[in-house]
Amino acid sequence: MSITIQKLIQYKQQQRPIVVLTAWDYLIAQLLDDSGVDLILVGDSMAVALGYQNTLPISLSEMIYHAKAVRRGVKQALMVVDLPFMTYQESVAQAMHSAGRVLKETGATAVKLEGGYPEMVDTVARLVRAGIPVMGHVGLTPQSVNQIGLRQQGKTQEARNEILQEAIALEQAGVFSIVLEHIPADLALEITQKINIPTIGIGAGSDCDGQVLVTSDLLGLSEKQPPFAKVYTNLRQTITQAVGEFSQEVREGKF
Ligand code: KIV
Repeated sequence: MSITIQKLIQYKQQQRPIVVLTAWDYLIAQLLDDSGVDLILVGDSMAVALGYQNTLPISLSEMIYHAKAVRRGVKQALMVVDLPFMTYQESVAQAMHSAGRVLKETGATAVKLEGGYPEMVDTVARLVRAGIPVMGHVGLTPQSVNQIGLRQQGKTQEARNEILQEAIALEQAGVFSIVLEHIPADLALEITQKINIPTIGIGAGSDCDGQVLVTSDLLGLSEKQPPFAKVYTNLRQTITQAVGEFSQEVREGKF
């Protein structure tokens, strides 16, 4: 049975932790889906796989191209696609157009966008009213890297209040879930207790309703990982070793 938005909300009520990972192509999507991951995110962290320095250069066409491949590998998980930088911030009409393209062309169930009160709240409400499910993302929002860097957010009382209010406003606007990135664990817990939709943490402690990692970080494929990522295996080393063995066998005429 495939995972629906209603099921994720039930998981929160049942206190069943939600597993979220990113996928950018068919092969990884298929592996994650077969492993029972609840939600597969085509995140704009895909920037690292395309050789960009940060998430800002990624285009909507690139996201859609990769999301279509992911879709072909996903049978059970809920699939969400990030709206990239400057494809939704300009106006509600722009957000509607971008999100509509994502859903129509990729077959994803929902879009994710960064930011909260007050700018994004209206946009979210309009998207949701048009039948487009939206996942929110507050705290460290990497599309604002030029303004806030990649530092932990919510360190002062004022910043904590702002993030909490953003999460509440996004819930009221209709998001079905919110990513909490790189904020203090006690703030993530407070938000998780105050809202009725699932919170998905990344660098936000273990008290969120679910956890997300960028799959290339988990697999040790990324050149460098953020401080809060946990690396479960070292695929860079495994691949380098396999390629080395192949090269040696070819050069020695053994293969
Ligand atoms: O782009 C991404 O992969 C994300 C996750 C880190 C939540 O937004």
